[in-house]
Amino acid sequence: MNKTTLLLSSSVPQHITQAADIIKQGGLVALPTETVYGLAADGLSSMAIKSIYEAKNRPQNNPLILHVSSIEQALTLIELPTDITKKRFAKLASLWPCALTIIAKKSCIVPKEVSYGLDTVAIRMPDHKICLKVIELLNRPVAMPSANISTRPSPTCAQHVISTLNNRIDAVLDGGECSLGLESSVVDITQKNPTIARLGSFLKDDIETCLSERVELNLSSKNNPISPGQAFLHYSPKVKKISYVFEDDLEKYWFSDCSLLITKLQFEKMSLLGNRPNLSFCICLPDNDILYANKLYDSLYQFERYPNKDLVIVEPAYEHGIWPAIKEKLFKAAMKL
Ligand code: TXA
Ligand code: MG
Repeated sequence: MNKTTLLLSSSVPQHITQAADIIKQGGLVALPTETVYGLAADGLSSMAIKSIYEAKNRPQNNPLILHVSSIEQALTLIELPTDITKKRFAKLASLWPCALTIIAKKSCIVPKEVSYGLDTVAIRMPDHKICLKVIELLNRPVAMPSANISTRPSPTCAQHVISTLNNRIDAVLDGGECSLGLESSVVDITQKNPTIARLGSFLKDDIETCLSERVELNLSSKNNPISPGQAFLHYSPKVKKISYVFEDDLEKYWFSDCSLLITKLQFEKMSLLGNRPNLSFCICLPDNDILYANKLYDSLYQFERYPNKDLVIVEPAYEHGIWPAIKEKLFKAAMKL
């Protein structure tokens, strides 16, 4: 798997065509989306999909999302056997393109490698012109997990992709920083009640408003998660040890020389008590959920500059908006299964 990874730029029109050509020929290209960079392969080719699992070192029982550029294309990939699922799909898909992934029964054209062992498939239309252009040129769906080696933080710029997948994939199409920086929310419309299988950038309240139905959460990594990806270690930067602690415990870490991830308000409160030791490293992120999410993965990568230090992540003290999704990612970054 030692290939030279081409660096392509989304501002060069020929590079966009070249990205689509490489995927057409069965290759792997990291593409920008509004959430995170995805590792794209031809979504209808078993061989190409197998190479995604290999390049990412991804367990085969963690299924992939197929990305489409039109609702017609999505409809070729799914079955909607009941009126309820038809209505739910029509309502949610009318919100596309956006950071919302829909799980439905899969049609016979979906290769089994997309979601080994499941009779469902996850579909999303990304809100990103360049990514949609590549899918249109290809005229096929692309299978696209986040473009990082499994267990590492998701990539929000081309440099993050290179830092874990260089020489393992054919190309990266550099489209600058992702505007959201946090993955899509995943909702399963095949359950009795529509069920969120992964929290992300799209608000649960907005899904409920769109469906006019109560939406449930199934995020547990132990009790039969409906989204197998929930069960794996994720988002972890390479540092000595990672802990996720409550704000009440911050004082003790403030005066130790660990690396710290805190919010600006937490930083201001602690600064009143005194300075941190020399050479200690601290990143403080905004107290606004959207802005925090936007810099989260980049911050996790930055801590890798201090691989021999312990990293302490302090829980932000908020519950509204996409804070639950952010806190779940932080918890998982520190979790050792
Ligand atoms: O924002 C995103 O969703 C990004 C960009 C690239 O689109 N993609 C992404 O893919 O985050 P990935 O593979 O890192 O995460 C996909 C999630 C996993 O948690 C997986 O278990 C779940 O979606 N998933 C995929 N297919 C599923 C299915 N048929 N049933 C349940 N969960 C599924
Ligand atoms: Mg991922």
